[in-house]
Amino acid sequence: MERTLSIIKPDAVSRNLAGAILKMIQDAGLKVVAMKMIQLSKAEAEGFYAVHKERPFFGSLVDFMISGPVVVSILEGDDAIARYRKLMGATNPANAEEGTIRKIHALDIEKNSVHGSDAPETAAFETSYFFSKLEMVG
Ligand code: CMP
Repeated sequence: MERTLSIIKPDAVSRNLAGAILKMIQDAGLKVVAMKMIQLSKAEAEGFYAVHKERPFFGSLVDFMISGPVVVSILEGDDAIARYRKLMGATNPANAEEGTIRKIHALDIEKNSVHGSDAPETAAFETSYFFSKLEMVG
């Protein structure tokens, strides 16, 4: 059993797509074991995306991530990290497979509707960045 962090990003929350995206997640058999809607501060967004701080898109990404509320959740299941990444589709929705969250809902490479952890180490960092043990069920 594996856990991964999901963020439904401001572009999707502001278009009232959180429910539709959570339905896709649940229909894929991933179990939501923690969830909340929050407004990130600049420092919180910078800390979450610290691995990207030297990238040219970092400033714009942080501004986007604080432009409105996000829905963060922890998803659990066998092979949850890879399964959620497959369900999300490619980072750039132009390259995402049919039927994926990003193909259906994302606007562009930045406003790409969802984030998912990319490896067990990042999943451990990212889940504990947003949730304490007390906030996780199951
Ligand atoms: P995410 O999977 O959350 O990881 C980093 C985010 O940076 C990515 O989704 C996009 O929202 C954003 N981003 C913007 N431009 C790029 C880019 N050229 N390559 C990768 N990520 C980008």
